[in-house]
Amino acid sequence: MIEGRTFLGTWPRRLSGLFDVGVSFADQRILDVGCNMGIVGYEVCKQGPAYYHGVELLETHCQIARSIFTAVPVESVFHDFDVTDASVRNEVLSEDYDVVLYLAVHHHLVKKRGKAPAEETARDLFRRCRRSLIFRGDDFDAFAELADAAGFEQGPVIKDPLLHPFCAYTRRP
Ligand SMILES: C[S@@+](CC[C@H](N)C(=O)[O-])C[C@H]1O[C@@H](n2cnc3c(N)ncnc32)[C@H](O)[C@@H]1O
Repeated sequence: MIEGRTFLGTWPRRLSGLFDVGVSFADQRILDVGCNMGIVGYEVCKQGPAYYHGVELLETHCQIARSIFTAVPVESVFHDFDVTDASVRNEVLSEDYDVVLYLAVHHHLVKKRGKAPAEETARDLFRRCRRSLIFRGDDFDAFAELADAAGFEQGPVIKDPLLHPFCAYTRRP
């Protein structure tokens, strides 16, 4: 058992609202940052994306995600690495995803790696995102500034009394 690696809420609760933020996943190229064991990705892939890329710090979680995805009829790839590492990002990430899932990860990066590396990571994720980035986190004001500077517009915020709120950011035309 990995200490301190459980988190709040059930999977249905963590997924609640994700398909109501006005982002279509069908035929899209998806990047899921902090994909954990691939459960969110598994549900997203029921919408028929063209491609799913899961990245996750923990190798154990990534291995579970790979196993789960043997039953998913979507082209997928997983990498375990620290997403704040720019050189690995440049090596393994594509330049052009349609949708980036950045759910309940940013505040961990701020806490564990520091504000500047976390924000540099977020800016790079926006740069690689063609359409929508879905964010769940705790500091919406700071993140909204990053999104605005990257050319993205914030959609309605979905709140849950237990979990951090989330919303979709869409690239301005
Ligand atoms: C709270 S969980 C969220 C999981 C999933 N995105 C969700 O919303 O249900 C945070 C995930 O981010 C991963 N993570 C934390 N720091 C990371 C880092 N530096 N690089 C990549 N993944 C990281 C954790 O291992 C964990 O799986």
